[in-house]
Amino acid sequence: MNAALPLHTLSTMRSEVHEGDCLNVLKQYPDASFDLIVTSPPYADQRASTYEGVRPDRYVEWFLPRAAEFLRVLKPTGSFVLNIKEKAVNGERHTYVLELILALRQQGWLWTEEYIWHKRNSFPGKWPNRFRDAWERCLHFTKQRKFKMNQDAVMVPMGDWAQTRLKSLGKNDVVRYDSQVGNAFAKNIANWQGRTMAYPTNVLHLATECGNKNHSAAFPVTLPKWFIDLFTDPGDAVLDPFVGSGTTIEAAVGGGRTAVGIDLSPEFAILARQQLKSVQGALAFTEKSNA
Ligand SMILES: C[S@@+](CC[C@H](N)C(=O)[O-])C[C@H]1O[C@@H](n2cnc3c(N)ncnc32)[C@H](O)[C@@H]1O
Repeated sequence: MNAALPLHTLSTMRSEVHEGDCLNVLKQYPDASFDLIVTSPPYADQRASTYEGVRPDRYVEWFLPRAAEFLRVLKPTGSFVLNIKEKAVNGERHTYVLELILALRQQGWLWTEEYIWHKRNSFPGKWPNRFRDAWERCLHFTKQRKFKMNQDAVMVPMGDWAQTRLKSLGKNDVVRYDSQVGNAFAKNIANWQGRTMAYPTNVLHLATECGNKNHSAAFPVTLPKWFIDLFTDPGDAVLDPFVGSGTTIEAAVGGGRTAVGIDLSPEFAILARQQLKSVQGALAFTEKSNA
């Protein structure tokens, strides 16, 4: 830990945006400071001169020291959600994300789950050897097998399938049984009769919304919000070490969490600070109106 830097304590933790490399900035925070890290890091890019550019073949080497800091500042019951998608390089998908997953496991992370963000409004497109990307990975890492997860917070309306599926129940539907296809998926569909809400799948169908963001790689606010609802309680601390325009801050502070954002670019740090101020202003206004 760098003694020259002011050290935040859990009791003085407040929502703020830092400008700088997250590798250095995080040294201000003690171990086990955050309940959730949710982020979309700079993309790998052959053109290393772009602001985001980290070369695909150097990506794991670049990411690992930062991930070591994430591991240190995350609470034992916390989650790390990494929104990432590998580029195609020289006509094939690069393997750096797969290599990163293996390297993160070596570093001590558990690769607990992979959620898929399906970009609902992605318009069609075609290259000679593939179609337009309409999904990205949201890799879920934890420090231990038991972690905070509020499954009820992300329940979804049962939907139309219930009407048809629950109308004619077979013998396997009324007892809990192990799937015949051997995937260990045990179910008792009859349990869902009469219910209006169900647990979601691990595919998130969310529209992109870059138009109003001033950041070419912003994710929609619904994406961090979903993980914040699932993996934190109000009052918990959320970190986005590559905060960009401040979307995670908007979702976290708007939902009553403390949020810390970091961005290397002065321009984006200013943007994220404006986002923080705006959501804090809106909250104060609502509180005043309700008083
Ligand atoms: C994909 S963007 C994040 C976009 C963000 N999710 C949003 O909704 O606006 C990645 C961000 O990481 C920042 N960045 C790149 N290297 C960084 C580093 N070492 N430390 C902190 N931020 C960094 C870039 O400036 C960029 O804004």
